Amino acid sequence: MPKYVPEPFRIKMIEPIRLIPAAEREQAIRTAGYNTFAIRAEDIFLDYLTDSGTGAMSHHQWAAMMQGDESYAGARSYYRLKEVMDHVFGFKYFVPTHQGRAAENILANLLIKPGMFVPSNMHFDTTEGNIRARGGRPTNLIRAEAYDPRARVDFKGDMDIAKLRAFIEEKGVENIPLGMITITNNAGGGQPVSMQNLRDVSAVYREYRIPFFIDACRFAENSYFIKLREPGYADKTPLEIAQEMFSLADGATMSAKKDGIVNIGGFLATNDESLFERIKNELILREGFPTYGGLAGRDLDAMAVGFMEALDERYLEYRLAQTAYLGDSLLEAGIPIIEPPGAHAIYLDAKRLLAHIPQRELPGITLAVEMYRQGGIRAAELGTVAFGYIDPETGEEHLPELDLVRMAIPRRVYTQSHLDYTVETLKEIAGRSKKLKGYRITYQPRLMRHFTARFEPL
Ligand code: F0G
Repeated sequence: MPKYVPEPFRIKMIEPIRLIPAAEREQAIRTAGYNTFAIRAEDIFLDYLTDSGTGAMSHHQWAAMMQGDESYAGARSYYRLKEVMDHVFGFKYFVPTHQGRAAENILANLLIKPGMFVPSNMHFDTTEGNIRARGGRPTNLIRAEAYDPRARVDFKGDMDIAKLRAFIEEKGVENIPLGMITITNNAGGGQPVSMQNLRDVSAVYREYRIPFFIDACRFAENSYFIKLREPGYADKTPLEIAQEMFSLADGATMSAKKDGIVNIGGFLATNDESLFERIKNELILREGFPTYGGLAGRDLDAMAVGFMEALDERYLEYRLAQTAYLGDSLLEAGIPIIEPPGAHAIYLDAKRLLAHIPQRELPGITLAVEMYRQGGIRAAELGTVAFGYIDPETGEEHLPELDLVRMAIPRRVYTQSHLDYTVETLKEIAGRSKKLKGYRITYQPRLMRHFTARFEPL
């Protein structure tokens, strides 16, 4: 592959962005309590906070939105989405939801009782939060290499099958109402899961009759990694690979804000008819009628088109190459990241870049703050603040293995020169990294603290 793949689109509508002066950036980050989530978006130059809902829709998607059918029940938009859902995901039943966590909430509410366990390769924080909110125990059983940022393996998102089996035997199937897997593994660097691993995980869950749900947020990117890296898949289309992946599961939760390339949307799918009846009732109570699920008809149309565009090979080739370009350029500059680069984001290894700052003093927050100060760049800490927690039973503070700062790349939004600017900014920070000091938390809520926590410099 060349070092870069030119954008397979041209720009026909633009949105101005600007770098505000350094003094204003200083003021903005202080007002935000040094939490990048709390900065006003207009004060950001390049926004890598998330790839969720931040993608640019195509003219096909905008055209489809104009045809949205806003009927309360049974709208044409629903049936257009259903056709794509049946084709790509192939589950017997689904409901649209306004985003991924709405699907997670319904599933957790219906299936999880206090003290129950939900294994996965790695849960994303909203999934963790929803499981914990029902008194459940989300458990990560990813392969050991995932915790080594420098281990270059093809499918670093794979679950450890031996650990999964031992876990089920230890906790007992009656305490495991569902099992999950996240593709790609966002919390561990956006790393893919192999088809072989999905097959093995599926076989174990089926052996124990544990319903298997895929967290499908980045299914298209995962499919393309399988095509590139897994023997036997080079000649298959991303669509065929996706179909095979979902045939192994009993259901899925999805935030279409990622590989649906829409600004809002998601779904919850299942093959279980009685569960589907309960899902519908829950949805009606909280989200909306089952044919719109908290969305407008036009949103369903945008999703239907977006799922197919996300599976387009030329798009996926560019998408993965763009992320690899950013990652490889940083590595060349000696800036540590999770290797190899994933699909939707580059994860800076703050613990290694700022090795002189102890983990309790939040190297990830330090780095995210400096990126904004230096270049008006917004990235998110996904480390000690996002994944650390106080154990409800022992009262002990749990520190995650990794302290990362994620630069998530919005789909079809930034060009290569934006990425070059990002690399330059990080080089400047790396050059003066030894002088940086850590932070401490001054406010934090009980769950999902990274969104609203506040900090102060040490
Ligand atoms: N699962 C994964 C793997 C995710 O990455 C996300 C969201 C969700 C579930 C929840 O979906 O936001 O639509 O409710 N991830 C975003 C991110 C927020 O920035 O990575 P949601």
